[in-house]
Amino acid sequence: MRSWSLAGDAVWAGAHATFSGNDDEEAGRWRQQQPVPESWPVTIDGAVTVTCRLSAFRHLGLFPEQFPHWQWMTSTLKQHTGPERPRVLNLFAYTGAASLLAAQAGAEVVHVDASKKAISWAKENQATSKLNDAPIRWMLDDARKFVQREVRRERRYDIILVDPPKFGRGPNNETWDLFIDLPGMLRSCAELVAGPRSAIIVTAYAIRASSLMLDQLCREVLADKRGRFDSGELAIREQGGARAVPTSLFTRWCGDDLAI
Ligand SMILES: C[S@@+](CC[C@H](N)C(=O)[O-])C[C@H]1O[C@@H](n2cnc3c(N)ncnc32)[C@H](O)[C@@H]1O
Repeated sequence: MRSWSLAGDAVWAGAHATFSGNDDEEAGRWRQQQPVPESWPVTIDGAVTVTCRLSAFRHLGLFPEQFPHWQWMTSTLKQHTGPERPRVLNLFAYTGAASLLAAQAGAEVVHVDASKKAISWAKENQATSKLNDAPIRWMLDDARKFVQREVRRERRYDIILVDPPKFGRGPNNETWDLFIDLPGMLRSCAELVAGPRSAIIVTAYAIRASSLMLDQLCREVLADKRGRFDSGELAIREQGGARAVPTSLFTRWCGDDLAI
């Protein structure tokens, strides 16, 4: 998954497999430079084992960058003191790493995904993690319709994870478009949270670049210079309102003598 990189060609040549794609989220293919096993296990936090494989859509079956969220979630769940198990709703739940970690930390979990294949992969991970008896409800459903039904049923959750793709389809071909559907989805989630000790974690992968990426690139390029880096987003503030319209990402480096 090559992007702006200062790694030399030797580093890329040493990779077992590389995925080359275009700017579309998922189009592209894997090129194997050295044999890659059909699948391999990855254990997370010594608690849950996920089977990884090269999938046609660049994914490996695991998004390890989510790990800090998972750690935060499991430590929060372990602090739960109520008489009942805490409840976790995992939306767009994919191969289930977060669902399994939540169950392992004592939660009752509802795992929602529109893909039969993803749900059977998640169940395979449940078996590999020896969590067959964990209280997880596997829902093959459209996430948007599911949360609307849960709101009508007045269900409540202690932690809600929302990790949607940019575009997706429900099992009955319902469309999911992040830029259209996320606000409504989050409004429903806001109705489903149990109270002031609840949490919602949302991630959006809709951007290929990020301010962190730009920041790191500048730090690498300017590694031999002393100074300070500030990175973030530029936005235009709404007149008379509280909103800001994000327009672009930036990194500003200023040399030591200029830095105040
Ligand atoms: C990028 S993955 C999410 C990664 C996952 N949360 C994790 O950390 O491992 C996106 C998932 O959303 C699912 N999906 C796409 N459209 C959906 C929809 N309308 N309703 C429910 N799930 C959907 C896909 O099947 C896929 O498993």
